[in-house]
Amino acid sequence: MSLVAEKIETADSCGFSLSPSAINPRLLELRFEREVVSAFLNAIAEWPVQALEYKSMLRFRVGKVLDDLCGNKLQSLLVSTLVDRNTGALLITPEGLDSVDQAEDMVRFTTAVAHLFGRSNFDAMSGQYYARFVVQNDDNSDSYLRQAHRVMELHNDGTFVEQDTDYVLMLKIDEQNMVGGNSLLLHLDDWEDLERFSRDPIAYREMRWAAPPSKNTRQDVFHSVFDIDRSGKPIMSYIDQFVQPKDDEEGNWLTDLSESLEGSKAILSVPVPVGSFLLINNHFWLHGRDKFTAHPGLRRELMRQRGYFTRAKTLRNPKQ
Ligand SMILES: [Fe+2]
Repeated sequence: MSLVAEKIETADSCGFSLSPSAINPRLLELRFEREVVSAFLNAIAEWPVQALEYKSMLRFRVGKVLDDLCGNKLQSLLVSTLVDRNTGALLITPEGLDSVDQAEDMVRFTTAVAHLFGRSNFDAMSGQYYARFVVQNDDNSDSYLRQAHRVMELHNDGTFVEQDTDYVLMLKIDEQNMVGGNSLLLHLDDWEDLERFSRDPIAYREMRWAAPPSKNTRQDVFHSVFDIDRSGKPIMSYIDQFVQPKDDEEGNWLTDLSESLEGSKAILSVPVPVGSFLLINNHFWLHGRDKFTAHPGLRRELMRQRGYFTRAKTLRNPKQ
């Protein structure tokens, strides 16, 4: 039996179901039954989001509460899926959480999931372990994060911070008058030019990474675009907006890389319904967002958590 088939069997009658996505079998869809979601929220009623913000330890406790409600089968499934090079990506839906007025419950649910396999990093943009942000029709920000009418190119998160960023969790809290704007995902092993770029000596040359003021990170960091994981396969830490090539050779190599990624036929376009969230291994999945159509009433609210794995590692030399 394949690893995925084994997991699907395990998930049976544990309060959730697991199946390969029709979009691509590398992406697994995990659905929590409504009864489990409401039992979870009842069980943690004494801890609003503020309690989880103030006391880090409670983020792990709400994770345990959820795992207990799932017959203690959830934690191992999350850990093994996220480090499995063949999959490493989940679209998760807690049934019954699908309206913006449940935003706090959505944050609590995602926190529980994230803290079964990891710990979410401090997010300098929000000053919390998570960040909520709104995308609207007009935007004057200094990066493409909130800008509606253009593609946000494929990238990894955590390229300009010193913290290990093993996972990215992206939750859709609200969506009004939205046409387009699907999440875009690319698995490195499906990228046609992985060999060409990952075998180039420039791939392992240290480069400088610097973010604009809104990111609230003042210090430059230095690392290469590619690295090798514990299984000997290439992984990436790359974003086009924040890499600062030192000369024409690096600048042109990076531009070729960017054009190759954006032109890949293997990019997945994934609609994420309100209340659902994507959870990906940040080392071998790139993510981005498709453009969407202008509309005066356009509103989208998202939440993200990024952090490091506590139970398994993909990196050779994790910092933490
Ligand atoms: Fe990102």
